[in-house]
Amino acid sequence: MAWITKNSAGMKIEKRSEPYLSETLKARFRSEILPRYETSMGALLPTLHAVQHEHGWLPHQALMEIADFLSLTPAEVIDTASFYEEYWLRPKGKRLIAVCRSIACEFCGQPEITEAIKARLGIDVGETTDDGEWTLVEVECLGSCDSAPVMLVDEKLHEWLTPAEAVKRLDEKPIGSASSHGLHG
Ligand code: FES
Repeated sequence: MAWITKNSAGMKIEKRSEPYLSETLKARFRSEILPRYETSMGALLPTLHAVQHEHGWLPHQALMEIADFLSLTPAEVIDTASFYEEYWLRPKGKRLIAVCRSIACEFCGQPEITEAIKARLGIDVGETTDDGEWTLVEVECLGSCDSAPVMLVDEKLHEWLTPAEAVKRLDEKPIGSASSHGLHG
């Protein structure tokens, strides 16, 4: 595997005046998260989760604010957040498509499914549509190899897919929604 390097030194970091960790959020973390852990390092993962849940992803500024809040170094927070795939360090769409790319699914036609979704949305794997609606990722085994190929759309598993079926599933209503956020046209 080749290392992918990026120009961190020349990277522009977005900053906004309103903090991501509002006083209300911090008060909630003090009462609900911190008492459950002996060290602030122990509280880091749930704090990252909570901030991501609040904002949909983890902007760099939010990571700095978390470091400050937990009295950790920025490096400790960034190392942790970038280690786990569950943390989003780039903006994520309102809805997430996760296509399984592991061996059983790959063997049963996953590459064509990914291609069909890419063509339908006009984005590549790892990208988000311009309207902020959809993000497409590929993930490792979803534990449903017997019904390969599969994908998750938000929390819902879709099995025995064909490329046409996969694209059609994007028009289904999101779980828990009264109105469709699907694709039309
Ligand atoms: S390989 Fe796709 S679910 Fe296991």
